[in-house]
Amino acid sequence: MNDPNLIPTLDPNPLPAPYWIFKLLLIVTFFLHIVAMNFMLGGAVLALAAKWRARNREQGKRIFVDLSKKLPVLLPATITLGIAPLLFLQVLYGQFFYASSIVVAWPWFLVLAFLTVAYYGFYYASFRSGQESGKASMVMLFSVILVFLIGFIYSNNLTLSQTPGRWKGKYFANPSGWNLNFSEPTLIPRFLHFFVAAIAVGGLFLVFLALARWKQDGEYARGIFQLGGKAFMFATMAQFAVGIWFLIRLPRDLRMLFFGDNLIASVSLFVGVAGGIAAIFVMAEALRRENLRMAAYYVSGIVAVVIAVMAVMRDMLRDAYLEPYYRPDQFVVKTQWSVFPLFLVLFVGGVILWFVMLKRYGLFGGAKAAPPVHEETPELTGAAR
Ligand code: HEM
Repeated sequence: MNDPNLIPTLDPNPLPAPYWIFKLLLIVTFFLHIVAMNFMLGGAVLALAAKWRARNREQGKRIFVDLSKKLPVLLPATITLGIAPLLFLQVLYGQFFYASSIVVAWPWFLVLAFLTVAYYGFYYASFRSGQESGKASMVMLFSVILVFLIGFIYSNNLTLSQTPGRWKGKYFANPSGWNLNFSEPTLIPRFLHFFVAAIAVGGLFLVFLALARWKQDGEYARGIFQLGGKAFMFATMAQFAVGIWFLIRLPRDLRMLFFGDNLIASVSLFVGVAGGIAAIFVMAEALRRENLRMAAYYVSGIVAVVIAVMAVMRDMLRDAYLEPYYRPDQFVVKTQWSVFPLFLVLFVGGVILWFVMLKRYGLFGGAKAAPPVHEETPELTGAAR
């Protein structure tokens, strides 16, 4: 099992900055990637839910049109924000990640094809959602399925990358590269944990959209708020079942990290669970009082903390899985002081520019694209003032 020949040798190039900086950047950029992915995937699923399930069909269609216009922006945002952790992952875990990528080579390669087709689909749906909404929704559904499969392939590769003991058997049983990691007991709950979270955080995206629409059309904004807020609440409730399932499927010694064996892991789990419960209650109260600001700012503040601690827990779990093989102390560090500060400045500048770009573009703008259902703008309640 613990065969030292199993792991490719460490890249002899020294790390150009301290180990902990790469670790931090990996977690921070993964956080950004996952939030963008959640807005995109959750937003798309809720767009379809609005189109097919809304009691007020006209309003449902309007939400569908509104959201469909966001997807061609959110998908490339997910990709761009995925490239950053991909680079840091390769630096820190290249030995593991490259090896597992070879075992699941074909599904891994298919990610590119699925992405391209999904992207076309989102564009098609955004152009046609107004006139041919039936056809547009079917195309959007197809793109959503592809995006779902991409996430699933990621979970397969990443779970395999942290269980090197499985590589040999899997590879020699089928060296063609047509493999997934179905023998991994945590695979399905782990992936579902991400998918259900995408719906919850997609609900928060709708809450922000409602906030931006409030002044133009309060009635319509109220409809978006109800859909997004309820999706958030129910998905987060479901997350408790999925999260427990995930924990149960972990090997016992790793599970115990979160129940006392490791202080940071245990505190993180506690904060995550408490944050999830608090977010459900605050959202319920915000919906009851029709207080959009409470939902948009308080709930997303809590959720940002929950996602951050979960990202840290996920990273600790990976290191625990890899413990017999992964030796960060073997990295040679030779900080390139001449370029490192420049990198940091550009990194922070890049993130700021990204937010400025989003603001300029008006991620939550573009309401005019969707015809209003009600001509008159209702009075503002205390909610969004
Ligand atoms: C657009 C569809 C995508 C979806 C739905 C998606 C979803 C996910 C999910 C669910 C995970 C976590 C998997 C797990 O830990 O079990 C993940 C991780 C990751 N994704 Fe994405 N992803 C997408 C695209 C991309 C792209 C295009 C890139 C790179 C260019 C990327 C880079 C990454 C990286 C590097 C990680 C792992 C980070 C780490 O292990 O610390 N993703 N993604």
